[in-house]
Amino acid sequence: MEARTREGEIVLSYIQAETLLAARRAGAHQVEISPDLGISMVIVTLTDDGIRFTSHEVVGWTDVEKIRRAENSCFLVYENTIQAIHVFSETTNRVCSLMPTKRTPTMLIAGFTMHRIVDIDPMQDTRKKITTITPIVGRVLDTATGLGYTAIEAARTADEVVTIELDPGAQEIAQHNPWSRGLFSNPKIKQVMGDAFEIVPTFADASFARIIHDPPIFSLAGELYSGQFYRELYRVLKPGGRLFHYIGDLNSKSGGTVTRGALRRLQESGFTRIVKCPEAFGVVAYKEARDGARK
Ligand SMILES: C[S@@+](CC[C@H](N)C(=O)[O-])C[C@H]1O[C@@H](n2cnc3c(N)ncnc32)[C@H](O)[C@@H]1O
Repeated sequence: MEARTREGEIVLSYIQAETLLAARRAGAHQVEISPDLGISMVIVTLTDDGIRFTSHEVVGWTDVEKIRRAENSCFLVYENTIQAIHVFSETTNRVCSLMPTKRTPTMLIAGFTMHRIVDIDPMQDTRKKITTITPIVGRVLDTATGLGYTAIEAARTADEVVTIELDPGAQEIAQHNPWSRGLFSNPKIKQVMGDAFEIVPTFADASFARIIHDPPIFSLAGELYSGQFYRELYRVLKPGGRLFHYIGDLNSKSGGTVTRGALRRLQESGFTRIVKCPEAFGVVAYKEARDGARK
C-alpha cells in the first residue's frame, strides 16, 4: 500500500457498511456514519450509485457490499475506490492487516490478533495491561509497538515513551488506523524501527522506570521470551521499576506452560518479585530498589 497523509483519511468497515445498506433499504437520502472507525461521525448522502462524503469521495454500492461481506478487513477510501488495509511484509514474510471489532480495531499478523477481542475490546485490553504497572511515570520502554495503543496510553502520564517495532508492514497498518494517530503525533512518543532483541541491548543501564513488554505469541517471537532478553530488560529497568509482560491466558493449557517458563527465566534474570495478573493475561516483575524497598 502507498504511504499517504493519514489525517482525514476515510476508513470503513462492515459496521459502517451495514448502516449504509440499512439506510438504503429504508429509502433514506442521508445517514450519519463514522469515517474513522468510530472516532467521529459525519453525514453522507445516498445516491442511486453509492454514497458521497462532504469531501466529495464517492463509494459505489458494489464496494459498500464488498466491505459489508469482509468482516475481518478495514478499507481505505481513496479517489473513489476502496483498498483493503493489508500489507505483505517482506521483512517478516507475514501478512499484516487491520481488523475491525465493534469498537477499536486490532491488527492481524499471520492470522493472529495482536490484542484480545473475545469479550473484550482492544482498548480495554490495553488499559488492563497499563493498569498493572501504574503509576506510569518517567521514561517508559514499550518493546513492541503494534498499533501503538500501549504507547499512546502510557504517554498520557509518562515523560517519554520509547517504542520499538520490528515490522515496517505493521507500522504501515498503524499509519492507516485512525485509533493509532497519537503514535505519530504525540511528541512524547519516540518510535524506533528494528528488532527489540537487538535494540534493547543498546540502551543504558537503569534508563526506564517502566517497561511494557507486549510481544506476539511465543510461537511468533520466541526470542522475546528468552532469558537473554529478560536479562536485558532487567538491566535497562531502574531499581524500583516495574515490567508488565503480556503472556496470554495464564489459565489456558498453553498459556500456563509459557508462563511457568517465563516466570523461571524472569527470576533467573534478577527480578525478585513476580506477580501473576490473570485479568491482564500477563505478569508484573519488580526490580528491587537499591535500599531493598519496592516503589
Ligand atoms: C502484540 S503486538 C503489540 C501490540 C501493542 N502493544 C499495541 O498496543 O498495539 C506485537 C508487535 O510486536 C512486533 N514485533 C514482533 N517481533 C518483534 C521484535 N523482535 N522487536 C520489536 N517488535 C516486534 C509485531 O510486528 C507486532 O506489531
